[in-house]
Amino acid sequence: MLVLGLQGSPRKKGNTRFLLDRFLEASAGIGARTVMVDASRRNILPCRELTACERKGFCPLRDDMEDDIYALITEADVIVVATPVFFYNMTAQLKALIDRCQVFWARKYRFKLKEPGIAQRKGFLLSVGASRGKQLFEAIELSTRYFFDAVSAEYGGSLTYRGVENVGDLAVHKTVEKEVEKAVERIVKPLTMRKRIIFACRENACRSQMAAAFARYLGGDKIDAISAGSKPVEKVNPVMQAVMAEKGIDLAFARPRSLDKTIDVHRPEMIVTMGCESACPNIEGVETINWDLPDPAGQSKPVMQEVCTEIEKRIRVLTQQNK
Ligand SMILES: Cc1cc2nc3c(=O)[nH]c(=O)nc-3n(C[C@H](O)[C@H](O)[C@H](O)COP(=O)(O)O)c2cc1C
Repeated sequence: MLVLGLQGSPRKKGNTRFLLDRFLEASAGIGARTVMVDASRRNILPCRELTACERKGFCPLRDDMEDDIYALITEADVIVVATPVFFYNMTAQLKALIDRCQVFWARKYRFKLKEPGIAQRKGFLLSVGASRGKQLFEAIELSTRYFFDAVSAEYGGSLTYRGVENVGDLAVHKTVEKEVEKAVERIVKPLTMRKRIIFACRENACRSQMAAAFARYLGGDKIDAISAGSKPVEKVNPVMQAVMAEKGIDLAFARPRSLDKTIDVHRPEMIVTMGCESACPNIEGVETINWDLPDPAGQSKPVMQEVCTEIEKRIRVLTQQNK
């Protein structure tokens, strides 16, 4: 369960940062994992309109988007856009990040692929501005809504503060902390109540990736699914990605992750293992199921398709049992 904050202010300790920190702290306080991406301090190239994303589904620019930001967006259950008003819009740094998400737009609308997290992903906007004009946040809200649509997040509302100019202004605001807590309670809390399941295999390149993606896609409102591997490889299997794309599910930005680390940050209520062999975890008090599934890595595409269909079938049963 990841709450991802996209921080747009260039100030290190500015009002936006104060607001986003409160949101992320309150989320962590109720059990969510939180990550903040500070757009000003990351290497994010502005979109060069090469249109490769619309033709090929990928952005050829190499920077932090490719390194981890696309993967974080894909993993997130809640995406928080946080920005000060700069000339009645968001900051250029945050806008660069958002423009580079055209690749999500292309994969969704041109390639007709669905994000596994589509059923439950929420978006929330935090913003501050110095003046008090009625339309102060209108442009930011419109851009943010359009961004949320591209990354398949349902717009869950906003908290915006006028008359906030100097560093520290928001820290003395009387109602902000209560309002953030209320928003977190409404947006984040229901997602922390889902059953936490880890799907584990050895490399986290094929079987467990497919299982977690189906679990999110088919039962993400009830199941908080994540996958991991006892010996994670560098990249997920491209044949697996192609087979999942045939099912309409997009795993373009999925990354293998370590089982040990995942268990630490994502304490599960259930573990479904499928071939992590002697390294399969056995945690006291945690329900563990073993699925006997052949390893499709290095096999032909039909073998991958067969394993994929079998996993989908099992996930349909699992999600029914956990409704
Ligand atoms: C380049 C620039 C443009 C700004 N444009 C606006 C604006 O159009 N309307 C407004 O109300 N405040 C504007 N501000 C003020 C900031 O929104 C305000 O100081 C805010 O509290 C800064 O948030 P931060 O501390 O998170 O960076 C602008 C500030 C800068 C530096």
